Amino acid sequence: MIVYLNGSYLPHSEAKVSVDDRGFLFSDGVYEVAKIYEGRIFLFEPHLRRLRAGLTELRMSADAVDGIGSIAERLLDENNLRSGEATIYVQITRGAAPRAHAFPPSGTPQTVYVAVKPFKGHPASYFTDGVGAITVPDVRWSRCDIKSISLLPNVLANQQAKENGAFEALFIRDGYLIEGSHANLFGVLDGKLVTCPASGHILNGITRQLVLQRAPEAGIKVYEEPIPESRIGEVTEFFLTGTTTEIMPVTRLDGRPVGSGTPGPITKKLQQLFRTWVEEDLAANATAGHGAGV
Ligand code: PDD
Repeated sequence: MIVYLNGSYLPHSEAKVSVDDRGFLFSDGVYEVAKIYEGRIFLFEPHLRRLRAGLTELRMSADAVDGIGSIAERLLDENNLRSGEATIYVQITRGAAPRAHAFPPSGTPQTVYVAVKPFKGHPASYFTDGVGAITVPDVRWSRCDIKSISLLPNVLANQQAKENGAFEALFIRDGYLIEGSHANLFGVLDGKLVTCPASGHILNGITRQLVLQRAPEAGIKVYEEPIPESRIGEVTEFFLTGTTTEIMPVTRLDGRPVGSGTPGPITKKLQQLFRTWVEEDLAANATAGHGAGV
């Protein structure tokens, strides 16, 4: 695969960053992952907006973001990814400089990396039958809204899920279900569809925002309310949302069935709607270029 690194297009195996890169030394950077359907990037603008916001929060220039659309187009062409499903990964770090905690001198070039790759997809059964999840304590910082490359608690939680035969680990903070290690969480409690409110405790997912914005059009109201851990047993449906996760039912939590143990009616309805939202966004992109969406 051909990737983009700091102004050059080169084979993935030749893309190298310095051992002094602050991404390597300090996790000093941000990233984005967006999904590509039939060669078109789904909800690309909202992803780029979040990237700009993250850079600004880290007091880094967001100028590089302006060039990412054309870099992405070239990578899709060079890598023959104009059909099927793929992902795009963008990472920007504060650049390479001798190790010191405080920022390097102004003018230090950022490291900008962009790669696309075919998306293998999850087994169809994950979407039709649901997946298992476990709960873990949330030991992360209070700025989870920044899509930082500092993902160690997420990595450890996700590995724990995998070792328990589950797909996702759900973080519990102060007695409430917050989100997953790499996806947001929705649940049906007292017949209401709820999801944790946006704050520094969650990543405000682009897929989460899509559901909040569009589900009401189909008569499904969504409430931004967190689910207390003490009421997990009363939740009749759980599902995850995310760029690569799309809308994925969680039918077992900590080894116990959720509701009937099969995907519930609201989850199934939203899975159907999601397909139409993808079609609509891609149709809009085909005529208007990137920029449709949330
Ligand atoms: N993960 N919460 C966390 C902690 C995430 O890492 C992600 C995305 C989400 C869902 O956000 P979105 O709908 O914007 O993808 C929620 C990406 C896909 C990843 O790290 O690979």
